[in-house]
Amino acid sequence: MKIDGKPYRTIWLNDDGWGVDIIDQTRLPHEFIVARLETLEDTIYAIGDMQVRGAPLIGVTAAYGIALALRTDAGDQALAAACDKLVAARPTAVNLAWAVKFVRAQLLRLPEGDRASAAYQLAAEMADEDAEICRSIGRYGVKILESIASKKTGPVNILTHCNAGALATVEWGTATAPIYMAQAKGMKLHVWVDETRPRNQGAALTAYELGQAGVEHTVIVDNVGGHLMQNDMVDLCIVGTDRTTASGDVCNKIGTYLKALAAHDNGVPFYVALPGPTIDWNLENGADIPIEQRPGDEVKYLAGRTRDGKMEAVDILAPGSSVANYAFDVTPAKYITGLITERGVCAASKKGLLGLYPEQAG
Ligand code: MRU
Repeated sequence: MKIDGKPYRTIWLNDDGWGVDIIDQTRLPHEFIVARLETLEDTIYAIGDMQVRGAPLIGVTAAYGIALALRTDAGDQALAAACDKLVAARPTAVNLAWAVKFVRAQLLRLPEGDRASAAYQLAAEMADEDAEICRSIGRYGVKILESIASKKTGPVNILTHCNAGALATVEWGTATAPIYMAQAKGMKLHVWVDETRPRNQGAALTAYELGQAGVEHTVIVDNVGGHLMQNDMVDLCIVGTDRTTASGDVCNKIGTYLKALAAHDNGVPFYVALPGPTIDWNLENGADIPIEQRPGDEVKYLAGRTRDGKMEAVDILAPGSSVANYAFDVTPAKYITGLITERGVCAASKKGLLGLYPEQAG
């Protein structure tokens, strides 16, 4: 991803060889700030407060968090405690639990003195792998866009929800990787960007990174998508996912389900882009996915920049009203046209997924 023409990943090891640098996503789009993680506590805060967010990125961040924790104490107990705290930071995206489990299992085989450096190495490998996976999702996804472009004149209109872009991963993004590749090939594109209340990942992050990449886009409030689809203004939807079950049910940012219903009703193809580590092979039914509930203040207060340039949060609630803040919902597999993975595109079904990941059978 290029920011003001300079290439960035979303997380990287500082030149000092141990601190971990991240783009603080709570400050975007108004300020581009690089924050530094030095401890396990910094990492837990960064994940919980959403300085870093998006399923693949929080997995990689947690892996670095383990490395930071082990600098202080690399014993079995400290490792277990660090892993438990990291997994609890956000419950829905399975990448976080997957990354922590994987790194922990590798480290337990090593003597304590070797663990911290091995954890840094594993985190760096995970970051590289995520970038490669997203690149591959892009290669498969761009074929879908090319096929739609070949059947129409004018730009391909894509609707996306939340931010499943480069900022949610290490590079490229999942839902955005096909878009960036199509843009590089010179395809005419236009992206409808759902604002994505209450954290506004669409308005603040997707719009920001599409703008940086020169992709034509329009931000819409969350309830516009259905109207656009009824009026033939959307050629396809592409969204990301935080956890996909073995049978192809997709959990993603709250509001995704309503877009899938509208797409189904209007015959608009609805694709989900996902890396293999986002598949929870232990779950069949989307209803069993734990849905994160976040602080009510995210609903009560609207955060942004005032006309005179100050960052403020304003109260939008009637006094005394209570709020609920469900962060994710589940789209049943039957509403999904296809899953775009790093191994190819498949039906949202057990058969489709096992066709691409046969090693998971049995
Ligand atoms: O709450 P967030 O911002 O972490 O939610 C992110 C999403 O829902 C993304 O769509 C999902 O993680 C896929 S990211 C490639």
